[in-house]
Amino acid sequence: MRVPTLLALSAASVAALPASNKLYKKQASPDAPNAFGLAYTTPPPMANGGAWSAAFQRASDVTSQMTLEEKISIVTGQNGRCVGNTGAVPRLDIPALCLQDGPTGPRPVDGHTQFPAGVTTAATWDRELIYERSRAMGQEFYDLGVHVALAPVTGGPLGRAPRGGRNWEGWYADPYATGEASYLSVRGLQDAGVQATSKHFIAYEQETSRNVYINKTLGSQPGLATTLQLPISSNLDDKTTHETYLWSFAEAVRAGTSSVMSSYNIINGTHASANSDALNGLLKTELNFQGFVVSDWGGIWGTREAVYGGNDLDMPGNGFNGLLGIFYGDELRDLVNNGTIAESRLDDMIHRVLTPYYAAGQADKKLPDVPFNAGSGTDAVTYRLVQKPSTVDLVRKIAEDGAVLLKNEGGLPLKSVPRIAVIGNDAGPPSRDAGDTGEGIPIGSGSNGTLADGGGSGYSTPLNLIYPLMSIQERAAKDSSKVSWMLNDTDIATAQTTAADADVALVFVSAWASEGYDRTDLNLTGGGDALVQAVAAVNNNTVVVMHIPGPTLVDAWIDHPNITAVLAPLLPGEQTGPSLVSILYGDISPSGKLPFTIAKQSADYPPNTITSQTEAENLAPQADFVEGNYIDYKWFDAKNIEPRFAFGHGIGYSTFEYSNIRKNETFAFDSLAIQKTNEAFVGQQEGESLYDVLISVEVDVKNSGNVVACEAAQLYVEFPASANQPARQLRGFDKVKQAAPGSTTTVSFPIRRKDIATWDVVQQRWVVATEPVTFHVGASSRDLPLTITHTF
Ligand SMILES: *[C@@H]1O[C@H](CO)[C@@H](O)[C@H](O)[C@H]1NC(C)=O
Ligand SMILES: *[C@@H]1O[C@H](CO)[C@@H](O)[C@H](O)[C@H]1NC(C)=O
Ligand SMILES: *[C@@H]1O[C@H](CO)[C@@H](O)[C@H](O)[C@H]1NC(C)=O
Ligand SMILES: *[C@@H]1O[C@H](CO)[C@@H](O)[C@H](O)[C@H]1NC(C)=O
Ligand SMILES: *[C@@H]1O[C@H](CO)[C@@H](O)[C@H](O)[C@H]1NC(C)=O
Ligand SMILES: *[C@@H]1O[C@H](CO)[C@@H](O)[C@H](O)[C@H]1NC(C)=O
Ligand SMILES: *[C@@H]1O[C@H](CO)[C@@H](O)[C@H](O)[C@H]1NC(C)=O
Ligand SMILES: *[C@@H]1O[C@H](CO)[C@@H](O)[C@H](O)[C@H]1NC(C)=O
Ligand SMILES: *[C@@H]1O[C@H](CO)[C@@H](O)[C@H](O)[C@H]1NC(C)=O
Repeated sequence: MRVPTLLALSAASVAALPASNKLYKKQASPDAPNAFGLAYTTPPPMANGGAWSAAFQRASDVTSQMTLEEKISIVTGQNGRCVGNTGAVPRLDIPALCLQDGPTGPRPVDGHTQFPAGVTTAATWDRELIYERSRAMGQEFYDLGVHVALAPVTGGPLGRAPRGGRNWEGWYADPYATGEASYLSVRGLQDAGVQATSKHFIAYEQETSRNVYINKTLGSQPGLATTLQLPISSNLDDKTTHETYLWSFAEAVRAGTSSVMSSYNIINGTHASANSDALNGLLKTELNFQGFVVSDWGGIWGTREAVYGGNDLDMPGNGFNGLLGIFYGDELRDLVNNGTIAESRLDDMIHRVLTPYYAAGQADKKLPDVPFNAGSGTDAVTYRLVQKPSTVDLVRKIAEDGAVLLKNEGGLPLKSVPRIAVIGNDAGPPSRDAGDTGEGIPIGSGSNGTLADGGGSGYSTPLNLIYPLMSIQERAAKDSSKVSWMLNDTDIATAQTTAADADVALVFVSAWASEGYDRTDLNLTGGGDALVQAVAAVNNNTVVVMHIPGPTLVDAWIDHPNITAVLAPLLPGEQTGPSLVSILYGDISPSGKLPFTIAKQSADYPPNTITSQTEAENLAPQADFVEGNYIDYKWFDAKNIEPRFAFGHGIGYSTFEYSNIRKNETFAFDSLAIQKTNEAFVGQQEGESLYDVLISVEVDVKNSGNVVACEAAQLYVEFPASANQPARQLRGFDKVKQAAPGSTTTVSFPIRRKDIATWDVVQQRWVVATEPVTFHVGASSRDLPLTITHTF
């Protein structure tokens, strides 16, 4: 969701909103057969809460004491202090639950941390850091009295579209790795006592036309047009659904996510918030999800359809004074009273909302009562310091370990550099502190400053943004080096005179991305290519630093002989400067690796991944996922296209050698499921799970260089040809940490049934490969020196 811009609407224009938009391409019917050939006439009620059975009992008991009005108030958002608020039932000691953005830290509130974006954290390939980031973030939510964090992004978007505006909020353009990050980040948040919201379910892969209903309220008031363009419909087949887009949500459910957010888009012709196939079928039946489904803000299009379709909580409902359309509420009461919706369904909705609340311990130990005000419609920000010094250290470490060194011809680490030139707006401070706006920094000012986060509801305000120039000056002063700078990107002549006589020219460029719209191209923003080229023309030791949200083209200059290094810290968060200096000066060896592919040209990516049609062209725009499972590196492999920088690529100041691949055939039952899914496989025996570990593949990784360094080792599976699968699919990663020069570390990749299984659309089950499967291990998706085969 993205609230602030909407708040400019007057009450009069709000009144002009349609109560409900009935222009479904296909009506969501409670009687329609779903993908399993079954009819979900009633959405599946909770299976006693699974691992939360005690909490389920409490929720059931308290629900049985509620009046209809009380029940309705809980599932319909209310005005309140948070971005989302449920109704309180004081006589039963049930507080208004506070739901608050977002994936890089609490927003909009002040006094907390701007964490590195998901994409930067992904680039660390470090499970511990992925977990610790969410744990620390969860603590900040908790300390602000937030019950439900609207985080993490767990695969919607996954990164199908390289230009996708929100890809940076998520993780890897790969289901397995995003699944691992989803699992760990749900665990991290919830271990801190806050409930996680895994979002956005499902196939939410573009911003363009994501919810024209909201855009309409902005674009065409007053007097809504008689025609209304629907949100984009993501149309995908069952195999792609299971093998690519559902995978990471399965991991979020296994981690025990309290909540799942339904997305804005339409799926296969039916709104995501009313999609019985997706919510009742995939999520609540196949994944056995025991928590609640919350709509994205303004994502509901009809009360009856959403309730039957499996959406439990309407947000923001009456919140923001009903700005985004009020569903549920009185209409739901009437529907229950006249028997259209069974009260048992309403009870299940309450059970689903309250069970995770009890399970999280939030009823027994009340959260801090912090009177910030993010839901009043004024976007007021309350300052309350919740940042801990240890969190600042963690944020710096993630930014250090997530910075990807793409090219190094000796430019880094910096050697004797008495005169350093720092070029580019992206090195400096924004012209003012954006803190009180609660929004992204590049909002059209002349000096946007360094890019540390993306825009929209995924942005969070830094407590202190330590920008690169500041940190470089501080560090240079210790060596009595001179730092000259030029931060005006369009004054090329002065940039060149500044760079010309320096021993190193550090040129800073960025690419902007935000929720609400997709990138128009994959280029650097604001003439970045021209700036790099101008500097490289006059300085033979030009080092490029790129703050980018995802795939960005570098071919205009990447082979320039004067460009001696290219570093991509992606979106590093508020410790951007200190983390950069650690790498520039060689205090640490960079070890980040790309969580996406950088192509040589846009045309190398799958075509038409953003559907862009005007209302006049198409009232029901369609995004057909024709590439199926072949997103990102799988596409490049299938089409035999050489990427500029492969998925998983990144270099450091040391080198690593991979050797001695072997199998360890020790079997282990799944020990990681907090909640068990109902995912089934052919031949399944009692007690067996798709997530049992069948074997482990082990390799030795030797630091063959001269400095202490880390290495993200990766394992890819190659299915037998008969399986008709992508050539190689990531199924394991592990980070070798702080390896001393000459030392050898054993890396072990556990292989679960699911890792070697494919989805059978006829049997509606996974099929574990029976013919020989080959595993490839190495440093990136295109650097896999070791191979071993196994027959399961
Ligand atoms: C919203 O609608 C307005 C007016 O129709 C249009 O100019 C604008 O591009 C739309 N924005 C998005 C994000 O679709
Ligand atoms: C989309 O529809 C196809 C065909 O009915 C179905 O197999 C698939 O599972 C659906 N995907 C989602 C996400 O609902
Ligand atoms: C039940 O109530 C809803 C909401 O007021 C109304 O739209 C619907 O027509 C009613 N149905 C019946 C069968 O009365
Ligand atoms: C600041 O951001 C705006 C909006 O993204 C952009 O148009 C402008 O070029 C940026 N200015 C600089 C100096 O980067
Ligand atoms: C940046 O440089 C351009 C080109 O020389 C100039 O027109 C502009 O005024 C400068 N901006 C600032 C803020 O100095
Ligand atoms: C992006 O950069 C490439 C290479 O410099 C250039 O050919 C292309 O025109 C640029 N695209 C846009 C939309 O500016
Ligand atoms: C590289 O930089 C030097 C200045 O150090 C310059 O003379 C030369 O032309 C540059 N080379 C290219 C290819 O631009
Ligand atoms: C780069 O330029 C400097 C100063 O002009 C010169 O001393 C040095 O030899 C050049 N290095 C290379 C590799 O050309
Ligand atoms: C094989 O894996 C098991 C379980 O992870 C481990 O305990 C055991 O030490 C491993 N054996 C060898 C020879 O590495």
